This record gives sequence, structure tokens and C-alpha cells, in this order.
Amino acid sequence: MARYTQESVERARDAVDFVDLVGSRTELRRSGSNQLEGLCPFHDERTPSFGIDPVKKLFHCFGCGEGGTEVDFVMKLDGLDFKSAIEALADRYNIELEVEDEDPAARQRRIRRERLQTLLERTASFYERVLWDSKEANAARTYLLERGLTEEALRHYRVGYAPSAWDTVLMGSQKAGYSTQELFEVGLAKRNQRGGLYDQFRARITFPLSDARGRVIGFGARQMSEDRGPKYLNTPENDLFHKGRIVYGGHLARSAAAKAGAVIVAEGYTDVIALHQAGFSNAVCIMGTSLTEEQVKVLRRLAPVAHLALDADNAGQEAMLRAARVAAGEDLKLRVLALPDGLDPADLVSRQGPEAFSSILEDSTPFARFRILRILATGDRTSAEGKEAILEEMQPTFAALPEIAAGRIMRDELVQLISSRLDLTIDQVTRALARPTKRSTSSGPPRGRSTGGDGQRQGGGSFRGGGSGGARGDA
Ligand code: UTP
Ligand code: MN
Repeated sequence: MARYTQESVERARDAVDFVDLVGSRTELRRSGSNQLEGLCPFHDERTPSFGIDPVKKLFHCFGCGEGGTEVDFVMKLDGLDFKSAIEALADRYNIELEVEDEDPAARQRRIRRERLQTLLERTASFYERVLWDSKEANAARTYLLERGLTEEALRHYRVGYAPSAWDTVLMGSQKAGYSTQELFEVGLAKRNQRGGLYDQFRARITFPLSDARGRVIGFGARQMSEDRGPKYLNTPENDLFHKGRIVYGGHLARSAAAKAGAVIVAEGYTDVIALHQAGFSNAVCIMGTSLTEEQVKVLRRLAPVAHLALDADNAGQEAMLRAARVAAGEDLKLRVLALPDGLDPADLVSRQGPEAFSSILEDSTPFARFRILRILATGDRTSAEGKEAILEEMQPTFAALPEIAAGRIMRDELVQLISSRLDLTIDQVTRALARPTKRSTSSGPPRGRSTGGDGQRQGGGSFRGGGSGGARGDA
């Protein structure tokens, strides 16, 4: 990856107006000759223990101990790495960063990538304009607003509308100098059997999908009527876009997630927007697929805790376990929300209000505990064979527990719970769980790539077990 010249990085840092930068996140007032103070943006407090030195561009909080430079401020508050923080600052204060000498091939790649990004960006803006300004999108606009989504929230997520004509984006983009090849590469154009070209997205509500820095890399697009094609059509996998490597809304959730110390993981686009509107701006979604290992890493960069607001009956069990193992290795705590049966977060906040979601959030259960309760509730606890099967089904969950103090405490608690529910001694349970499994013998993170999802929903996960739906809320 290209590096920026030291000189241009320094220029960006010099250009930072520290009072403006910090002032955009918390209200500041004078305290002493060279100092300003305010409520700490890193933790919740009622009286200010956070102060900055605007000349030296340093901040410090006596309450939570956070402190550092202007770059640290952006890195910590927005969960960015150094390079991205510099980019954010350069962007905010209008400094052009210069890339250190690249070889010609790298330069070619960068320029190509930038062109494709601009193409996607202008298409996102185009769809947005269509949604708000065109007569054709009347029905879509009405539909969205009637669902209770506000214009403000829809604009925040840059929701748009793709016109129904076969070639609007195709024509517009070519006129602006883009080749059909480029349109293919980013998944905006398709070819029919006779070689004719047409727009990928037509007559659909569009949701731009962005990378961690907020650059548009693809789209999810919802049909308006149930006539043809999938409910949501997504950009096909390509060089820029891999569905399984991003979470929807990640860049917009960043500062709320950093502040809350947690991120909420929903299933769908509309869940994220509805949650944001209800005051949960730390929400993202995994776009209907099961949680991938890459997504676990993305979540960890947002916060140390992830609350899974997913339909447990839909989540592929094996994929979940794999994700849990990666999460343990990444030190990401997974917790599971007990959503009422058949309600997704968007339904829940619209029918029962934000408080209902808050209270479910407060009662979230650690992933391992959720799994164990689920297996206990759905398995056969009456026979010896049934108990054997239950214990065997629990082994991968135990294998995924982190090997740290907290993991050991959790392990002991769960063993206790299992022994009382199965009417076995602690010893019996411990031994049964320690035996190597038939299905998975290794406890380390699995090798190899995850598939990254293909826009298909993954149903039929064995979270379902014996079919008793009453396992949730059992904690
Ligand atoms: P849902 O079917 O639950 O849709 O799919 P939703 O998000 O609740 O949407 P509304 O409320 O009916 O409008 C959840 C997510 O799964 C992905 C999308 O990301 C969707 O938001 N999905 C769903 C697809 O990618 N393709 C599909 O055909 C269906
Ligand atoms: Mn829904």
C-alpha cells in the first residue's frame, strides 16, 4: 500500500485546527490561559474532566485516562489506523496528501481504482437525486416514509432509487467518459445473451455499500414489487467489492460504537437505518449472510463488544461457531440479543419503541451461554444417549471460549449450569466436554478463506435444534 510523504503528512497535521476538531465532538470552554475543557467524548460523564491544549494539540482526560495528539484523537475516537486518521484530517482541512514514489504498475493500479471509485460515487449520488427529485420514485419515496423511515435518516445512509430504464447509468457514465469495461468491473452493467448491455439495478431502492472509510464500493437494491428477481439484488463480487469483508453502515457507526464501547449487529439494511433513527447509531448489518471471519475483524475495529441482533434461527451454526472462535482470538466479545420471535430490530423499534430495544440490549447474553441454553432447551435431557448428544453438541462452543481468565470463569459457570440441568456431576460434564469431538478436533482458528457470501441467505442453521422455539429469554 502506498505511503504518504512525511512532508505532506506534516502539512496535514499542521493544518489541523484542534479547537475545531475536538469542538466538533464535544462542547469546549476556556479553563485557564492555554487550556479548554469539556465533557469527555471517550466516556460518559456529567462534569468535565477532559481538557485540551490547542497549541500543542494535545488532549487528556483525568476521568478515563485517554490522551494523546490530534492524530490519536481521531484514531481513538473513530477507531482508525494512523493512515486513515491522517487521511481524515487531510480531508477535513483540505490538504493534498502526496504518495511516495510508486512503481509504474502500482501507479496504474491506484489510478484505475480511483476511477472506479469515482464511478461508484457518482452513481450513488445519481440514485440519491433520483429518489428525492424524480416523479418515477414517488412510490419508492412514499413506501420508505410510510415504513417510518425519516428523510433525514435515509439521506444519512444515502439511500437512493435506480430508475426503471435499461440504460440510464450506462448512458450517463459513458457520456462522462467511463468505458463499458469499467461499468462491468464495478458491477453496474450486465450483458444479455446476445451481448447487449444493460443496467444492473433497475426500478429498485438502492443502499450504497461502503468500505471502512466510507467509500462506495457497491450497492444493495430492494425491489418495489414481488414480481421478478430477488428481494435484494447486490453488486456481484468483484475486485473492489466483497460482501463478506464489510459490514453495512460501518463507517457511519464508528464514532457511536467507539463511544458506546459496543456495536450492534443486525441482519438487514432497514434494521440499521431504523436503529440509527431510534438513537442506536452504533448499528451495522451483515446483509443477511452469516457472520464471516473478516466481518468479525471489522467489528473488532469498531468496538470490543458486538451485540448480535440476528434471527438466531437463520444464522448458520457452523459459520457462527467459526466466527465465535475468530472473535475469541481477536478479543471481540460476542453477545446475543433475545429478539421477540419473528420481529427484526426495525419492526421492534417501530412497534414497541426504542425503550423496548434498549431493555433487550441490556439483557444480552454472552454467545457461549446463549448456545448452551439453546442446546439444553432443544435436546433430549431424559436419556443417557440424549445427554451424550447434548454434550457433544456443546463441545465446539467450549472449544471457542477464549483461553483467558474471563473465558475460564465462563467455562466454570457453564459447566455448573450444564451439570445441574443434565443431572450429572461437575466431573462427568468436564470429562465429557474435554473429550475430542468427532466433528471438530482442533480448537484453533480454522485455516482457509471464508466464502465471503454471495448474496444468498443462509437458512436452516441448526440453532433450530429440536424445534422448540422457547429457548430464548431463558438466561
Ligand atoms: P430481510 O429479508 O430480513 O430484509 O433480509 P430486511 O432487511 O428486513 O428488509 P425489509 O425490511 O423487508 O425491506 C435481511 C438482509 O439480507 C440481505 C439484505 O442485506 C437484507 O437487508 N438480503 C435479503 C439479500 O442480500 N438478498 C435477498 O434476496 C434478501
Ligand atoms: Mn425486515
